[in-house]
Amino acid sequence: MQISFVAPSNIAAGAWVVGATEGAVLLPAAVRADKASGGALTRALKSSRFTGKAGQMLEVLAPAGMTVSRLLLAGLGKAEHVDEKGLETLGAQIVARLYAGGETAASLEIEVPSIPGKGGAKVKKAEAAAHLVFGARLRSYAFDKYRTRNLEEFEKKLTTLRIVTADTVAAKKAFAGLSAVADGIFLARDLVNEPPNILYPEEFARRAKTLLSRLGVKIEILGEAEMKKQGFGALLGVGKGSIRESQLVVMQWNGGKKSSKPIAFVGKGVCFDSGGLSLKPGSGMMGMKGDMAGAAAVTGTMLALASRKARVNAVGVIGLVENMPSGDATRPDDVLTSLSGQTIEVLNTDAEGRLVLADALTYTQRRFKPKFVIDLATLTGAIVQTLGFEHAGIFSNDDQLVQRVQAAGRTTGERVWQLPLDPFYDKMIKSKIADMKNIGGGNSGAISAAQFLLRFIEKGTLWAHLDIAGVAWQDGEQKPTIPSWGTGWGVRLLNRMVKEHYEA
Ligand code: BES
Ligand code: MN
Ligand code: ZN
Repeated sequence: MQISFVAPSNIAAGAWVVGATEGAVLLPAAVRADKASGGALTRALKSSRFTGKAGQMLEVLAPAGMTVSRLLLAGLGKAEHVDEKGLETLGAQIVARLYAGGETAASLEIEVPSIPGKGGAKVKKAEAAAHLVFGARLRSYAFDKYRTRNLEEFEKKLTTLRIVTADTVAAKKAFAGLSAVADGIFLARDLVNEPPNILYPEEFARRAKTLLSRLGVKIEILGEAEMKKQGFGALLGVGKGSIRESQLVVMQWNGGKKSSKPIAFVGKGVCFDSGGLSLKPGSGMMGMKGDMAGAAAVTGTMLALASRKARVNAVGVIGLVENMPSGDATRPDDVLTSLSGQTIEVLNTDAEGRLVLADALTYTQRRFKPKFVIDLATLTGAIVQTLGFEHAGIFSNDDQLVQRVQAAGRTTGERVWQLPLDPFYDKMIKSKIADMKNIGGGNSGAISAAQFLLRFIEKGTLWAHLDIAGVAWQDGEQKPTIPSWGTGWGVRLLNRMVKEHYEA
């Protein structure tokens, strides 16, 4: 979809999309559209349920006396309730409607009312336009590369989207950063949607290298030989049963001051999780191509930061493995020695994510001494039981970090909910023969998993763990801005947090 910003002038072709607030109050462009059509909008309003509620649409096809193909009136709801998130949703809903109608081009002229001091929208004009387009762009995502038949059914005809705004320069500028974020989200979605026979650890690493190095991100890839030399016993133990080689990818974006310590993101990248010898049942294995969503979010975030030239030093470290059963696979009962030196009794090879993260976390802390580290992982089914699909779980040793992530979650809609860490849960991972075991056994599985990770957090490191198993993909109803199985969850959240707190 081609997106451009244009100054107001006569709209002569394609769809003309205008807005109304609650009570069906037409905004200025809607009034003009109504006049130009000889009152077609007001007549249509009379015989419809349209009241201007957020997300409502009223469409007039081929309005008489005009050359436009249709008028689309979109409801914004109450002006004072209009916020970034709502505008994104609306932008997405408009695009969805135009897709359904087979429209090829549209001009979006929705002036978000701002009454200085009282009752105006929470967003400035340029920001409002930018978020509306951001939502539209997020809706335009598709993953159709493996379809070969009936392509017309999936074709999205809308190829031209013009944003009509008085201040094109400001709107364009506000959108530039968001467009970079959309690029990051699309990358994360692509990675999650790719099938595991195509996207195995080396292929993931190659794509990260190709796509990010051209933006100025420094990429290092450690293979099995190098990781063995350095002592990544936990991560390598997971990949051992697979014919695919495990990889660690280190991404560095240095957009900040030379002297400033980096922030760090660590991702679980299990390209397929069969459970290993503790094999999952068939029904539980479906979708486990997405078990690298943490790594995808980290990679997408690094792309977004680099692409918008964020003034921050950030590192992304992802552990890429495939968890498979074989004659050479790690057994339940094996003991692994992690990079930290701590030993782990593996009692269930399906609790593999924490093993991958353990070594990636140790490596990241020792090498970079980051300001903080946030890890993202589709770590436990238990978090899905606990929080469902609307929140990721957050576990942390630092309240300020939690608050910052929570705040970013509220504005972006990628919300998190805090769960506890406590010595009580730490007892659950005591091993009879090693420093710890890799399962808690019994209840509160998301917490014992987080507690396991805490064992690998070194003194002084500020850390937060996001268990994203419930939000990384969607099997049920799709959200307006997420027309895909892989959601790309985390890119918006982390980008926002960086923007608010860590840019020079
Ligand atoms: N990747 C899974 C967690 C998962 C489950 C993500 C469902 C998304 C949806 C993880 O590696 C896993 O298998 N966890 C086990 C841990 C258990 C063996 C202690 C689980 O949650 O059942
Ligand atoms: Mn598993
Ligand atoms: Zn897993």
